[in-house]
Amino acid sequence: MTDSVKRPIPKKKQIEQLRKEINYHNHRYYVLDDPEISDAQYDHLLTELINLEQLNPELITIDSPTQRVGGEPLPEFGEVKHRVPMLSLNNVFSDEEFQEFNHRLCETLDVDTIDYVAEPKLDGLAISLLYENGVLIRAATRGDGSSGEDVTQNVRTIQSIPLKLQGEDYPAILEVRGEVFMPKDGFEKLNYRQLEKGEKAFVNPRNAAAGSLRQLDSKVTATRPLKFYCYGWGYIESMVFPKLHSEMMEHLREWGFPVQPDLEVVKGVKGCHEYYKALVDRRNQLPYEIDGIVYKVNRLDLQADLGFVSRAPRFAIARKFPPQEEVTRVLAIDVQVGRTGALTPVARLEPVFVGGVTVTNATLHNEDEAQRKDVRVGDYVVVRRAGDVIPEVASVVLSKRRHDNAPFKMPVHCPVCGSDVERGEGETISRCSGGLFCPQQSIEAIKHFASRRAMDIAGLGDKLVEQLVENGLLSDVSGLYTLTASQLSKLERMAEKSADNLIAALEKSKNTTLPRFLFALGIREVGETTAHNLANFYGTLDKIKQASREELQEVPDIGTVVAAHIITFFHQSHNIEVIDRLLESGVNWPDIEVSDIDCKPLAGKTFVVTGTLSTLSRQEAKELLQKLGAKVSGSVSKKTDYLVAGEKAGSKLDKAEALGVEVLDEEGFLRMIDKENE
Ligand code: IVH
Repeated sequence: MTDSVKRPIPKKKQIEQLRKEINYHNHRYYVLDDPEISDAQYDHLLTELINLEQLNPELITIDSPTQRVGGEPLPEFGEVKHRVPMLSLNNVFSDEEFQEFNHRLCETLDVDTIDYVAEPKLDGLAISLLYENGVLIRAATRGDGSSGEDVTQNVRTIQSIPLKLQGEDYPAILEVRGEVFMPKDGFEKLNYRQLEKGEKAFVNPRNAAAGSLRQLDSKVTATRPLKFYCYGWGYIESMVFPKLHSEMMEHLREWGFPVQPDLEVVKGVKGCHEYYKALVDRRNQLPYEIDGIVYKVNRLDLQADLGFVSRAPRFAIARKFPPQEEVTRVLAIDVQVGRTGALTPVARLEPVFVGGVTVTNATLHNEDEAQRKDVRVGDYVVVRRAGDVIPEVASVVLSKRRHDNAPFKMPVHCPVCGSDVERGEGETISRCSGGLFCPQQSIEAIKHFASRRAMDIAGLGDKLVEQLVENGLLSDVSGLYTLTASQLSKLERMAEKSADNLIAALEKSKNTTLPRFLFALGIREVGETTAHNLANFYGTLDKIKQASREELQEVPDIGTVVAAHIITFFHQSHNIEVIDRLLESGVNWPDIEVSDIDCKPLAGKTFVVTGTLSTLSRQEAKELLQKLGAKVSGSVSKKTDYLVAGEKAGSKLDKAEALGVEVLDEEGFLRMIDKENE
């Protein structure tokens, strides 16, 4: 009898135990970055808790880890009065200013050196979190410093913010302060999603963090990649304070708060300076944006002695980094013509110092980008330069726009040669249709021909190419090898010696290789790799010139588009004339040994690969076959020997069956490959 009577485990205990376990793993994952269990195991625990809570709704509490998903949308945010005001920081912008700050404090406190807590200054927004008996009960923004907005529902969705504190020794009432921010990678992904949905991208991670936290619908906030680091505290009840700020931060860490891993205690001006130097160097590698360093006097008694000036503490200072964003004016939008005729709109800017360099231009990439950003001549724009990245226009300051600033339009004629501008359907790039008739396209083509990885003509720089074309000494690349030293030395800033050197370099460049020569021709989308593949596949320029579109597609990495560009190039008589003149001038290359195709096991066999293969990609299958000497073609014909058909093979399979071509499934294909490889 006793056997059949099971003592029920009290549900409340079971739920509490589960919550404790989940909170523990949550902290390991989101705060310590050091998970102990797999995501699946974690999800399993959470599902178990959700189920138990659904069956026992009376046991749901606000600190349960199930309460992070966001609630009903709010009509508006409530107001929260801060019991201890949320202050701001005074800034310094140079080492000298920081030294003065330190000197002032030393005098006031009558000490020789001061220990500081140094931390990165995160570029997010300040938040105050109120815990009663270890449970998060309210979160508020800074607002005007004395009262802010109640964003509790939203803050609950940020996984690194504890809903329940760890340990036992936390104070009964604890107000924690810190920064909510969006890491760089999360920001990129969010913007990608926004654009995909047809919504506006955020200008920078700070705006994205602010916009996400100030959502009335917390379910939206829950989808945003927000993080939190605490850097201080506000109102606290029932606690014996430690002596040092850094010790208090240790307590906060123990209670489960994320504290910046880069927090350090440093000694005096020298220590601060070293910390600054090291962090500036690492700035662009950090996963989040920072705009400086915050130094705080470490001894809490000294902090108290120093007190506050108006709205900022005297014991702390922000040492700001050079700005990576500045506002400047758009003087003009020029349209540049590239080697293949691609037109690129470029904003000419009033010079502005940003991210350590003076910026005068910023690319607007293409017509769509320029229109998406809606940059207009006369506009004030935010220019940003992060790290080594090319400076870009981040956004327009719309409030400063004059009503007569006209929207940007791509010209219908090439700004250099007047030829029609074309933009293919579904393409983003507009092009000048002038080809080598366009002097700018010629200039760019010659620069490319001469460049190091192409014909490598030492001493023929961009400026010189422009001079030669502008002076009528050169109109296409074939003219290079008929230039004489006396012609060259007549050019401005060209000494006799340099003219001789250039002639020697031209002579030397004639001995080249077929891949270099092919690359130098500047065929659209034929980069170095494709040039290599072409050369190794065919061995001679003549064979490449004669190859059909279908045959070209048998070359590794060449698809329909590139094949079409190659065909177009060799079908234009002026290109053939240029090549002939180059060869007549003595451009030459050693023969290429095309690997002995006939000896390979699948030599002479033509394959077509279609459908989805499960063990390798179609490209990999193609390469394997080519290694064994087979030809791989894009379409099924009577000449096809085998069709390799993966899952969801469509019309090619029908055609092969109709023509009686042998069809191999994946298994059959792999068996054949294995056999031939032996
Ligand atoms: S300490 C009395 N530490 O910077 C104010 N602030 O410009 C104490 N901030 O409102 C602030 N990172 O939002 C401190 N490590 C850090 C910080 C930091 C970012 C923000 C904070 C503050 C603003 C002042």
